[in-house]
Amino acid sequence: MSPVCYRGGELCAEEVPLARVAESVETPLYCYSSAAMAESYRRLAAALGGLPATLCYALKANSNLAVIRTFARLGAGADVVSEGELRRALAAGVAPAKIVLSGVGKGAREMALALEAGILQVNVESEPELEALAALARGRGRRAPVALRVNPDVDPQTHAKITTGRRENKFGVALEAAEAVLVRAASLPGIEVQGVAVHIGSQLVSLDPFRRAFARIAGLVRRLRAAGLAIRRLDLGGGLGIRYRDEQPPTPEAYAALVAETVGGLGCELIFEPGRLLVGNAGVLLTRVLYVKRTASHRFVIVDAGMNDLIRPALYDAWHEIVPVREPAPGAGLAPAEVVGPVCETGDTFARARALPEVAAGDLLAIRSAGAYGAVMASAYNSRPLVPEVLVRGADFAVVRPRPALAAMLAEDRLPPWLVES
Ligand code: LLP
Repeated sequence: MSPVCYRGGELCAEEVPLARVAESVETPLYCYSSAAMAESYRRLAAALGGLPATLCYALKANSNLAVIRTFARLGAGADVVSEGELRRALAAGVAPAKIVLSGVGKGAREMALALEAGILQVNVESEPELEALAALARGRGRRAPVALRVNPDVDPQTHAKITTGRRENKFGVALEAAEAVLVRAASLPGIEVQGVAVHIGSQLVSLDPFRRAFARIAGLVRRLRAAGLAIRRLDLGGGLGIRYRDEQPPTPEAYAALVAETVGGLGCELIFEPGRLLVGNAGVLLTRVLYVKRTASHRFVIVDAGMNDLIRPALYDAWHEIVPVREPAPGAGLAPAEVVGPVCETGDTFARARALPEVAAGDLLAIRSAGAYGAVMASAYNSRPLVPEVLVRGADFAVVRPRPALAAMLAEDRLPPWLVES
């Protein structure tokens, strides 16, 4: 049984009915299942078990400290892309030796902190960044462990906004330029070349793009070695997709087999940076129906969550399953509904013409598969407080990020002297 499912007619996260969570924490709220996270982590770790692999959880998918620590306790490292994420990983107890710093534009402070913390490696994405890191490390009498992120120019066949491995994307160094950059890197006293990194995009639902990218990387590694460069580590990024609707993403086992087939023979240590796969289906956005508005042509189900709480539908036209928390009676009729939030934009729409049973004001709905890229991308647009987060484990649940008080939000702003009444 999936950890987030109906039990006795009530949608539950593990043993906790979501209606109980909504009673104690006002909606909208995110709720995550520890068991679901552990299940996906363990399955991927087991699949990759035959390989010399380190799993560095991509914090960008969900960087709540409780979530990071859940993965850290399972043995995960961390893939971070900012000083904030690096500080979160360290605060959650991730060993520095299992932290990778990625990102296309790392600042001096971020790189300095990474060096001081003694992280596993910095994935460098351009020659100027390499030079900056080298100077920084040298100034500190250190050598920065570096992998060069390569852009293999492979179409990951996913949404354009989350495609990263094509020539026209800003990420990485072109395959053809990689050798020269690595030769330069190896000559810099502040740099210690570890290997090569690649990440071609997110929510990949076919193995083919991975196959093409990894094969190109394997070819590159052979050429680099022939040129005398020591390449001991490969970072293969994240990107494995999940099922939102009817996608059939590759299984972790099939992915692992592909990795073994394409790069397994190189004798490199391997790093993986999964994000969505580990948390996506472990979380729901819980929301309450405020009103049902019927027009001549449409049924609008107006809920208390908005695009500021979950922006994926507005930004990527993403499809998220929406289900009533109280299980509909078998054979309950379905009719099309527009599920919309209260934000003053037409883009504040979670679903169009969605087949839903009758719902009424006060009913709870769960927007599923919202554990990844949900809370982390939330904003306070329309001066709506940042959505709170709850973590379930077994029969227990805890608020792992409370909703900020409006008074505290207002107090963040400052009036300049000329606007303060005398
Ligand atoms: N490594 C790097 C270098 C990345 O850029 C990413 C994601 C990951 C790992 C993790 O990828 P995952 O395993 O989660 O696919 N906000 C978008 C997704 C953006 C992904 C950005 N990079 C969404 O909601 O779909």
